[in-house]
Amino acid sequence: MKISVIGTGYVGLVTGACLAEIGHEVVCTDNDASKIEMLEAGGIPIYEPGLENVIPRARKEGRLSFRANPADAVAFGDAFFICVGTPPLPNGDADLSAIDHVARVIATEAKSPKLVIEKSTVPARTGQELKRALSVYARKSNVKFHVASNPEFLREGTAVGDFLHPDRIVVGVDDERAERQLKDIYRPVLDRKFNCPVHTSCCPDGPAPVWQTTTINSAELIKHASNSFLALKISYANMVADLAEQLGADIGEVVRAMGMDPRIGPSFLSAGLGYGGFCLPKDLQAFVHLAERSGVDFTMLREAEKINKRRIGHFVEKLRGALWVVRGKQIGVLGLAFKPNTDDVRFAPAIDLVNHLLGEGACVRAYDPKAMEKARAILPQIEYAKSAYEAAKDAEALIIATEWDEFRKLDWDRIREAMARPLIVDGRNLLSPREMQDRGFEYRSFGRPD
Ligand code: UGA
Repeated sequence: MKISVIGTGYVGLVTGACLAEIGHEVVCTDNDASKIEMLEAGGIPIYEPGLENVIPRARKEGRLSFRANPADAVAFGDAFFICVGTPPLPNGDADLSAIDHVARVIATEAKSPKLVIEKSTVPARTGQELKRALSVYARKSNVKFHVASNPEFLREGTAVGDFLHPDRIVVGVDDERAERQLKDIYRPVLDRKFNCPVHTSCCPDGPAPVWQTTTINSAELIKHASNSFLALKISYANMVADLAEQLGADIGEVVRAMGMDPRIGPSFLSAGLGYGGFCLPKDLQAFVHLAERSGVDFTMLREAEKINKRRIGHFVEKLRGALWVVRGKQIGVLGLAFKPNTDDVRFAPAIDLVNHLLGEGACVRAYDPKAMEKARAILPQIEYAKSAYEAAKDAEALIIATEWDEFRKLDWDRIREAMARPLIVDGRNLLSPREMQDRGFEYRSFGRPD
């Protein structure tokens, strides 16, 4: 099929590249001309494992191209994936102005009926508004549009694999034709008929994804409810971690056993600095606002958000407990991305933490394997190290703020020798307290006996 993808952020670029990977002809567009220029020149504006293989191959085989002019993308596709940002407004609501703008472009440029698929995360009922907007903006041409919601469940860092091996594909539609078109789009994924560029060994045996057809409203709700539940789960684990710390229990042992119950499941129970990124925090907020506007009490989610916001303060208290005075101290920070395997620093707990440390007068030297360029743009006032060892040099405390695998494998004896005081404050419970103490470190983490 000929598909146009509007928006080349984390979601749009992965969606466009993977749709091309499974055999469609794809044109991607973005209103940021510099991004398109970079993509056309062979660059990739984000770090997302797998894209470095998928994009050049699809381009070489002529299935993927990038256009700065959105009208070109509209003229090309039979189906459009809207993947533009829906950032939070100051009141927490999702800003839907980019979706409205895209609707206007599609409606004024399209010459024949098209399927418009919302992939951006939006509050329930956006599909209805989109449908109305398309017909209002197309009143002169009288072109008809079908609207569908197809929420994405991609995680940054594993997004290519998540797209090609989803556990479920949710499509919200209100007519059979739209569902049929979406099935055609996803057919290779449903039938697992493509050569997987990332998971070659697991492909043949993995389970096929579940296809779930819903109303458009339900599909939109599924996305917000899923992300908010993940946030809730993390905050629950963090709340229990604080209690474990007071009682001398070990949160690692507690969640391991809890997770063995299939009704609970083992993931998203890792205690630490809390959740960040451009999805969970904003989606939870927008979901709460939607509920409150609809007269439904979502205090439970507000509490989850409060617990998350307190994580940084709690961590700084821990650090202060060890350092006594923070002002003037040299502190090394390992990790700036909001989670490992991405260069994304938007709403990253690590960035929030560094700002707190600077506010307290600490001197910060940070290192991240992939996110330093993006961090520099928002945190120009700190020092950036070329390695974890350089970040640790002469530091009176070394903080782990993102659980990159690389940090697990460091030469910790070398780190200890480089530091002015061998104090590790582990915001992600990455390391073993016993092992670190045996190596001669003072070691603090969340919800585990010191
Ligand atoms: C999240 C969802 O997991 C995806 O399913 C969804 O598609 C995506 O948002 C989206 O809406 O686009 P993502 O933002 O990439 O994906 O990151 P997650 O893996 O969910 O992690 C979110 C945050 O929670 C990170 O800061 C991570 O460090 C933190 N986290 C995660 C914890 O603190 N503890 C955990 O146990 C798990």
